[in-house]
Amino acid sequence: ASRGILGTFFHAPDRGAIEVLEDTLILLDETGAITQVFGPEDPGYRFELDRLDNEVLYLPEGTYGLPGFVDLHVHAPQYPQLGLALDEPLEVWLHKYTFPLEARYADLDFARQTYETLVADLLATGTTTALYFATVHREATQVLADICIEKGQRALVGKVVMDDPAACPDYYRDATTEAALADTRAVIEYIKGHTQNAQGRVLPVVTPRFIASCTDEGLAGLGKIAAETGCHVQTHCSESDWAHGHVLARYGHTDAEALDRFGLVTRRSVLAHSNFLTDADMDRLVARGAAVAHCALSNAYFANSVFPLRQALEKQLHVGLGTDISGGPSASMFEACRMTVAASRMLEDGVDAALPAAKRGRPDSRIDLVTAFHLATAGGGIALDLPIGRFAPGYRFDAVAIDSTAPQGGIRLFGETQPQAIFEKLLYGATRANVAAVWVDGEQVVGSP
Ligand code: GUN
Ligand code: FE
Repeated sequence: ASRGILGTFFHAPDRGAIEVLEDTLILLDETGAITQVFGPEDPGYRFELDRLDNEVLYLPEGTYGLPGFVDLHVHAPQYPQLGLALDEPLEVWLHKYTFPLEARYADLDFARQTYETLVADLLATGTTTALYFATVHREATQVLADICIEKGQRALVGKVVMDDPAACPDYYRDATTEAALADTRAVIEYIKGHTQNAQGRVLPVVTPRFIASCTDEGLAGLGKIAAETGCHVQTHCSESDWAHGHVLARYGHTDAEALDRFGLVTRRSVLAHSNFLTDADMDRLVARGAAVAHCALSNAYFANSVFPLRQALEKQLHVGLGTDISGGPSASMFEACRMTVAASRMLEDGVDAALPAAKRGRPDSRIDLVTAFHLATAGGGIALDLPIGRFAPGYRFDAVAIDSTAPQGGIRLFGETQPQAIFEKLLYGATRANVAAVWVDGEQVVGSP
């Protein structure tokens, strides 16, 4: 190990349980991998602390370390529209607001300017890994990958495929199916071959927007590219009644089954929303090892629906959280955790299930804050099949330091010293102003050392 960070850290390697690493020394190698984690009672703690001496960074009093957040669903080009245009249903919203905005990324100056703002803002809010939809444009997608590499964010970046001229406007779609597939391959090669991306911190993603925007040939071609390259896959799945109904009418079966038949459901697939998964769909995703990006805030606006998260987790389905910028009006993964908890409570039955009036939801739906935090960190890492989201040897040091004393922040500890209580206060209260430092692969990308 070449250096260490000493402080109190919280993480949730398993669902439903927070681990407190008090006054713990985390050792890193030159590449940013965690090599060892020493508590104060562990043999070697003092020795390593003395040996590393000046190479140890101390988190100040009142500052706590968390794994960096993994946002499993971001539409990068929609950032200018965050907090706007939430008044229409999905099928209207796309044509009225979203496609016209995304079409502007043919302009590479506009792309660079907005993507730089987005990546800087997400890092500053504690998102160390993001799974991005870009636009249909090959070059602008490459600009987004460049910026993630420059700014040091871990990112997965996909050129969006919309190749069905019957469903997509002429001003914003792939020229042909062949061009969509060729551009997808070109972006994959560009990202894999990028000279500053030797560690593979930025990865390419096969990205059909959703079934409704693609031809069968396009979907099959993308399934083939996923199989050949082993790349991640992302798309929208059974998001709203309209999107879900489109697929049922077109194929006579659900999104999950259709995507699977096209080879788009793999261990490295992330299906956004997935609100209307059937039992059989969930079993299918579990069998493939695919994941769901749960976007609780966006689902309130576009799906009028709550994803049955507890049921999915009980089936061992991989789930992480997403902001769905700009389908939900917040870019913060702290907010995504909070909304996950709140939405689950709204799905839950009333408190006294013996009362007829209490039977208005699904029993046993509630998700606690620790589970939401697990999904936003370790769960996102599992979904992506990447060694991130927890403090353990072999994992990357992607982390956030939360300063509970930041005067402009949202946390008031009132002298609290009990670690579980501090954790709750941090998660429920933290704002960007509390994010004092952020590391990706052990490199500090936000804050002064
Ligand atoms: N379905 C197809 N495209 C989109 C999009 O941009 N946002 C959301 N939330 N759903 C979609
Ligand atoms: Fe989305």
